[in-house]
Amino acid sequence: MQNDRGQFSSRLGFVVAAAGSAVGLGNIWGFPTNVASNGGAAFVLVYLVLAFCLAYPALMAELTIGRHTRSNIVTALQAIADTPRVRRFGWLAGYCGVVTASLILSFYALIAGWVMAHCFAHLLQWLGFTVLAAWLSEDSLSRNLAAALTFLVLTVAVVSAGVHRGIEIWSERLMPALLLLLVSLIAYVLLQDNAAEGLSVYLVPDFSRVTDPELILSALGQSFFSLSLGVGTMLIYSSYLSHEENLPLLGAQVTLVDTGIAFLAGLLMIPAMFIAQKQGVAIYNGDQLAAGPDLIFRILPGLFESMGNGGQLIATAFFALLAIAALTSSISMLEVPVSLIVENSPLRRKSASWLTGLVIYCVTALITVFFDQLFGLAVTLTTVYSEPLMGIVLCVFAGWVWNRNSLLRELQQGSPEIARGLFWKLWPGYVRFVCPVLIFAAFAQSLLS
Ligand code: TRP
Repeated sequence: MQNDRGQFSSRLGFVVAAAGSAVGLGNIWGFPTNVASNGGAAFVLVYLVLAFCLAYPALMAELTIGRHTRSNIVTALQAIADTPRVRRFGWLAGYCGVVTASLILSFYALIAGWVMAHCFAHLLQWLGFTVLAAWLSEDSLSRNLAAALTFLVLTVAVVSAGVHRGIEIWSERLMPALLLLLVSLIAYVLLQDNAAEGLSVYLVPDFSRVTDPELILSALGQSFFSLSLGVGTMLIYSSYLSHEENLPLLGAQVTLVDTGIAFLAGLLMIPAMFIAQKQGVAIYNGDQLAAGPDLIFRILPGLFESMGNGGQLIATAFFALLAIAALTSSISMLEVPVSLIVENSPLRRKSASWLTGLVIYCVTALITVFFDQLFGLAVTLTTVYSEPLMGIVLCVFAGWVWNRNSLLRELQQGSPEIARGLFWKLWPGYVRFVCPVLIFAAFAQSLLS
């Protein structure tokens, strides 16, 4: 079975795929939105600290467990358990991760569908197909269902082609395109008049806000979502990694790319908002900067439209950027249930992918139809409850359940010299005590507030 599992063909393949998972709507939409609603640069500062001090160590827990057990999250947690009771708990927690990943994909596909629809709408508008463009850009049940379906079909097509031929190759194609689009759009926006005001909101922190519990919580949630933590995504990706690689280094590279791209996305979005304001688009709701769908589907298109017909092309590029980011993330979410099915049933990858995709689409359709009742619920259940709790479970499995010598041996694989470094001295204790306590504190605080 080991050979059937598939493997990344190179270190770069893994880093690009894992970074592709990490870089998603969470970076390009969620991060700037959080910056806007949490007082600008203070949020950026807290986010960067948390990403490296808390999310990175938690990421390492997933990566080490995954590479060691070479299996999906359910089998992995059972494999490192030492007693039958812990094994049962591992089984339950593993399934909880799989369900969470699938549920995240269900609402993610809906948003990604909107984004894709807007991308084609602006392109068609530019080409003069105004009727079709209008259908694609206006909110309707038929458009939402069709767009989410298209997006999920793309996701399934990539995953069903396999780890190397699907996930790795497509991540290597899409991520450079994403970077190119992002950098070009930033250059364009920063060359406009009035970019400076947005830049100062984004880059000059108001230090009095840095200790605001609300802000710290949002930053923590954002950093966990952004690194795709807590549901077995990173775990399964590292299970496809060779034993020769230096895990702490690869984990650090993924974290750097993820935070780097979030930072760049802010450099695009926040100045763009203030330029839009100068063009007469309202960017404040009361005294809060606009955020969420309002920012993405009203303010930014408003800005692009004020740039004349060429603006349609810029808008196309902007929504293509979001759609690409979403696709490299959604494939990593789908891989969580698909790997479980492939490793524990006679089904092959192709059938497992299409079947899972179908089930997820049914949930997406439910969320679309009962949007007001279900959308917020799905987001809260997964990102506020399940991800932090599962983050704690994974740290506890790495730090307490897993035999310590075996853990250290796994870390040393591919990088024997690591035993002399700071990571080696700090991380095992850190993942045992500091990570679970801090994540729990933040979680408890979020429930109380
Ligand atoms: N990290 C992605 C983003 O920022 C989303 C994502 C992909 C994700 N896989 C995940 C989130 C697994 C939670 C769990 O948009």
